Amino acid sequence: MSELIYLNGEFIPQEDACVPVMDRGFLFGDGVYEVIPAYAGQPFRLREHLHRLNASLEGICMSPPLAEDQWRRILQQLLAQRGTEDQQIYLQITRGAYGKRLHTIPDHVTPTVMAFATELTRRDPEMVKQGMSVITLDDIRWERCNIKAITLLANILSQQQALDEGAQEAILVRDGMANEGTASNLFIVKDELIITPPKSQRLLPGITRDLVLELAGDAGLPYAEASISVEELETAEEIWITSSTREVMPVTRLNGHPVANGRPGPMWEKMDALYTACKARLRLRGSPSAE
Ligand code: PDD
Repeated sequence: MSELIYLNGEFIPQEDACVPVMDRGFLFGDGVYEVIPAYAGQPFRLREHLHRLNASLEGICMSPPLAEDQWRRILQQLLAQRGTEDQQIYLQITRGAYGKRLHTIPDHVTPTVMAFATELTRRDPEMVKQGMSVITLDDIRWERCNIKAITLLANILSQQQALDEGAQEAILVRDGMANEGTASNLFIVKDELIITPPKSQRLLPGITRDLVLELAGDAGLPYAEASISVEELETAEEIWITSSTREVMPVTRLNGHPVANGRPGPMWEKMDALYTACKARLRLRGSPSAE
């Protein structure tokens, strides 16, 4: 039997889960989403993800359709289907189906709420060892990149261009500043200082980004939230990208050139170990409410 997905209050087999073609998510990309990793059956940083979800909803003039404890119950039920296997949850809320295609926001429309759990996309161990290859590209996205909107066409085109050019991610540049990847946040190490761009409408406030800063603070590693120019990127001692599924990945090639000596750096090694230890603590605690 296929796994159940959550759709508008029900748990149903994926093949039976249908959304009307008039759904504004389908017509306009009018919705927001989250991707939440789960280790040993426990969602990681759930509260932070739900907080960002609500901020994204506010950013598109929607109210949260569910409270935190309701989400917790739904996600536990989805995760329970695969037991304690590591998984990832995808959840999406669109403005819902309205009778006609309307560019303005309708007064009365019921949101479409959907969530499912799948196997965790694991980091390729060889890529972790060798480091990633990235290119820089002009940021062709809109000016509200802090909202985790499902409208991802610009991200998709940029990610594909990176792939076509033999890289695994594109770092997006606006006005000479490197802000983030197509699906990741950006860090550099310069004079042993860990630097990531400050939160703004030009980047997603990544949950992994925040955790990396928290772990750096706890471990006494110096860090700063500061803009990163293309020149600083090109001369960085280390470059990392972060996301919930890729965790903290070293970047060892930028636009075809090696980053420093072309190998994952010592600061990355420290941070990767801190991140792994943080995940291990969640496994040990084993309580969904602990995180
Ligand atoms: N993307 N920036 C962008 C544009 C992203 O899409 C993501 C994550 C991040 C990292 O955020 P976090 O650490 O909260 O995962 C930054 C997810 C994983 C995705 O779209 O699949």
